[in-house]
Amino acid sequence: MTMLAPSRPNDTLTRHMLYPFTNASYAAKNPPLVIEGGEGVYIIDSEGRRYIDGQAGLWNVNVGHGRDEIKQAIRDQLEKISYYSQFGGTTTTPSVVLAERLCAMASHEGMARAFYSSGGSEANEAAFKLVRQYWRHVGEPNRHKIISLKRAYHGVTLGALSANGTPAYKEHFEPLLAGFSQVETPHVYRNPFTEDPEALGRLCAELLDREITYQGPKSVAAFIAEPVQGAGGVIVPPANFWPLIRAVCDKHGVLLISDEVVTGFGRLGSMFGSRHWGVKPDIMVFAKGINSGYVPLGATVMNKRVADAFVTEDESQFTMAAFWHGNTYAGHPLACAAALANLDIVEREHLDRNAGEVGSHLLARLRDVQQRHPTMGDVRGLGLMIGIELVKNPDTKEAFAASANYGSRIAEKCKQQGVLLRNLGDTFILSPPLVLTKAQADTIADTFESAITDVGRI
Ligand SMILES: Cc1ncc(COP(=O)(O)O)c(C=O)c1O
Repeated sequence: MTMLAPSRPNDTLTRHMLYPFTNASYAAKNPPLVIEGGEGVYIIDSEGRRYIDGQAGLWNVNVGHGRDEIKQAIRDQLEKISYYSQFGGTTTTPSVVLAERLCAMASHEGMARAFYSSGGSEANEAAFKLVRQYWRHVGEPNRHKIISLKRAYHGVTLGALSANGTPAYKEHFEPLLAGFSQVETPHVYRNPFTEDPEALGRLCAELLDREITYQGPKSVAAFIAEPVQGAGGVIVPPANFWPLIRAVCDKHGVLLISDEVVTGFGRLGSMFGSRHWGVKPDIMVFAKGINSGYVPLGATVMNKRVADAFVTEDESQFTMAAFWHGNTYAGHPLACAAALANLDIVEREHLDRNAGEVGSHLLARLRDVQQRHPTMGDVRGLGLMIGIELVKNPDTKEAFAASANYGSRIAEKCKQQGVLLRNLGDTFILSPPLVLTKAQADTIADTFESAITDVGRI
């Protein structure tokens, strides 16, 4: 039972707080919902209204809200010790046990060691520093460049931002880091090349090959990609793309980093996104679903090839061979305790399987709604990661004018009807908790249809 705090006047919600990616005047005119409680796939606002959480917080509350088992694991750890450093000769038990667990869960991918941070951007940042230092250790110090995909989202810190493939995130902060470049993403719905997914997968892998060759293979450290691009608009690559990019990386000796911040731990219907594509990356980057957001945590997990470069029996090299990176809160014991309880739930409740089954059902339901609503230009997705791109003209794929606020108006109607969905302009990016049932998926699809009908053609 959620105890509601007395409501705050709306203007106090925005007077002193600067919200991420939100203009202060806009926020003042459109005050945020104050979320006071949550239970399973539902969240409850300060007025006591209940919503289906169609975005799982921010792609992260995979096991649902308010899970007693996770809360208890955090409390138990809190009773022992709330925090202790991992620098210079101390550690805590949950972080050690979690590293073992992550490597066991990703043993198929050959993962050997985990390095912690406090979130997704930091975990990618660690991955970039790790690969640069790796290449110095193995005698190729010139390999420092990082290649990523257009429309990629890897985070907001300067390194992660440099790898992003959407200019809007970057333009306020340029110049960004040298040595980062982006190649075409295989976006089946919007690309100037071909409508044949397989040909597109081949072409984009070929473009990566050409970019590595152009940059000079001996200067390229790593290629990073999301198994399905999330914030870029839920872009599902053709099935041949990941195996082909693995082959391109191998051809040039380049390391492959899979950004599993969203896709890790079940969201695509497989435990890891790269596993869905049948590919073993060299580094897997986790955050979000690692503990369903109960306490901030990120992890950069590496295979033996990478890990062994940081191991030496030569005592004179002990200092220099260390990974020269670390944050105070990385691998926080409360976060790791939460992660262990979270992963118990993911495995026990087979949430990867549920995401696959309920995700297919939701996708089919939304595609059925699309038949009656031609402004739903493209409905795409894998597991419980689904994108709906709204267009003015489905034949030409012409977009609506931004000033029409079409997507936001539909999102508002959904909210009024008890379903909270996230839209980036006219693209909805659905990522409900992985405990979603088919009946709840039906409610999402029915509500979306009712909202799009209410808003009408514009
Ligand atoms: C694929 C991916 N990588 C990295 C990040 C950054 O994670 P964080 O916001 O925890 O820094 C995100 C955030 O949405 C993401 O979707």
